This record gives sequence, C-alpha cells and structure tokens, in this order.
Amino acid sequence: MTPLFLLVSILLSFSCKCQGDLIGDVCPNTRNPSLCNQTLRADIRSPTASIRGLGEIILENAQASTQATLDVAKAINNKKDNIVGEADICIKTCNDAIHNLNGCLPLPKARDRESVSALKAKVTTALTDVSTCDEEFGAREPPQLKKASSKAKDFISMLLVFADRL
Ligand SMILES: *[C@@H]1O[C@H](CO)[C@@H](O)[C@H](O)[C@H]1NC(C)=O
Repeated sequence: MTPLFLLVSILLSFSCKCQGDLIGDVCPNTRNPSLCNQTLRADIRSPTASIRGLGEIILENAQASTQATLDVAKAINNKKDNIVGEADICIKTCNDAIHNLNGCLPLPKARDRESVSALKAKVTTALTDVSTCDEEFGAREPPQLKKASSKAKDFISMLLVFADRL
C-alpha cells in the first residue's frame, strides 16, 4: 500500500463519516429504518444537512404522507359503502394531524428544551390523530387507507427520534 493511497483512504473515510453517520446513526432507531434511510439518501439536501435539516426533510415527508392519507379517506368517503361515517372521523383527525405538523416548523434548537418538548407534544398528538383514523375502521379499514396511514405514522414517529437528537 503506497502512502498516497493510504492518505486518500483516510481522507475518504473521514468525508464519508460526516453525513453517512448522521443518517446511519439516527435511522436505525426509527420504526422503519429503511424508509428513513431511503428518504434521506434520496434527498439532494441531505449531504449538507445538519440533524435539524434532516429532521425538516422528515417533517416534509410526514406532512405529505398525512395529506396522502387524508386524500385516501376523502376518496373512500365518496363511496356509498361508508355507512357508519368512519371516513368522516378519519378526515377530521388527519386534518388535525396536518395542523399539528404545520405547527412544528421551524424545528427548535436542542438548547431550547421547552421548544423541543412542545415539538414532541405536537408530534405525539399528530401520531395519535392518525392512529385514531385506523381505530375508527378497525378490521374493516380499507387496505389503501391502512397503507397510507402506516407510512404517515412511520414518518411522524421518525420525527420523535429526530427531536431527541436536535
Ligand atoms: C441506505 O440507502 C442506500 C441508498 O438507497 C443504500 O445503498 C444502503 O444500503 C441503505 N442502508 C441501509 C442500512 O439500509
């Protein structure tokens, strides 16, 4: 091994550590590590993002996936077989969740403990909101709604893991 090769290898291992480790450190602690990893590695902002920047990317995905759940609930609501009105409750709770998630920006700095607690409270409420939608349907939950809400819950719960690392 030539000294130059050695030097380049050492430098490369350092440069890879900066971002590789942030995503690699946090994502395994989430309930869907591969979704976390894939989402962050696919985002062009990730390589230069701090933990807050990565958290904001996760927040955007939490908002989008909750909106997608709301859209599915609305589509189901238009069908005649929504006799019991579960979809109505789901539409309401998903709207509440989106409202709570919208209130999370900008993500606070770690030193601001009070704001971090407030953030976690909003995120936890959003998670409960989306779970309420599932509970309304129970075993009768249409598969497309279950899939959408499961993704939303994955992203929202990811936010809690990032909040702990701010
Ligand atoms: C994370 O995602 C990248 C790119 O999609 C992939 O190459 C890598 O194997 C993934 N790592 C883990 C731990 O899943």
